[in-house]
Amino acid sequence: MKINILSGALGAEIIGLNLDSVNQNNIQALNNLLLEHKVIFFRDQNIDSEKLIYLGSMFGLIEEHAYVKGLDNFPQITRIIKAPDEKNQWGEGWHSDVSYDITPSKIVILKSVKIPPIGGDTVFANMELAWETLDEEIKNIVKDKKALHSSNGSSFFVENYAQMESNGNIGERYSNEHPIVRTHPETGNKILYVNCTYTKKIIGLSDEEGAVLLEKIFRHQERLDLSCRFKWTENAIAILDNRSIQHYAIADFYPNRGLGHERIMDRIAIVGDQPF
Ligand SMILES: [Fe+2]
Repeated sequence: MKINILSGALGAEIIGLNLDSVNQNNIQALNNLLLEHKVIFFRDQNIDSEKLIYLGSMFGLIEEHAYVKGLDNFPQITRIIKAPDEKNQWGEGWHSDVSYDITPSKIVILKSVKIPPIGGDTVFANMELAWETLDEEIKNIVKDKKALHSSNGSSFFVENYAQMESNGNIGERYSNEHPIVRTHPETGNKILYVNCTYTKKIIGLSDEEGAVLLEKIFRHQERLDLSCRFKWTENAIAILDNRSIQHYAIADFYPNRGLGHERIMDRIAIVGDQPF
């Protein structure tokens, strides 16, 4: 097994490990790699839906997405589809998956099914480093505060993503408060746990004061020296520690360049803890 580090901040491509061979006896080693690198990548993993679900189940219970419809035969798998002529793609913009849930997924696994020849990379960012490098004054204000995370449910799918289906929870609102600095339940590390997609306000501050502060934090989280970038190939798998990172699916599908190709990803998620 060979480990190619992707950047100084996080991420590693693991070479020479077949995810087909992961089982109860060796899952700990894979989990240790995940905790160390926060997002790990594997290429040429020709595993089917059943095996993808088995791989996920090694990390814990698999959950269905709150409002996106899963595959007919495998409701735990959310298929993320960008039609050839769509510019938009689900997952664009910095976010931590389902942070509006009371217990946001601890791990997300993505498998690339169809990848355009140009465009559609994903960027990941280390939120433990984001906390460490945050301005001390801001740290002092937010360290014991909570923030409200919310999503309007699937109503925007109907308008924005031609190939994606809701599970019927249209217009339902998902909202929960979480600590702005959470503690990783396995490593004890501190994590800056807000994101510009779902975090709406800081509890205990005026809307205006909170908005100014959140804006500063969001800009800080975008720093490129906190990130790594992965260029997908078909049948690649990414395993993300959804507690300690954010990610951003780049929708650089422009005419005569990245536009005109379908992009398909399968996603599963593992039940997480309530952030503390
Ligand atoms: Fe995501």
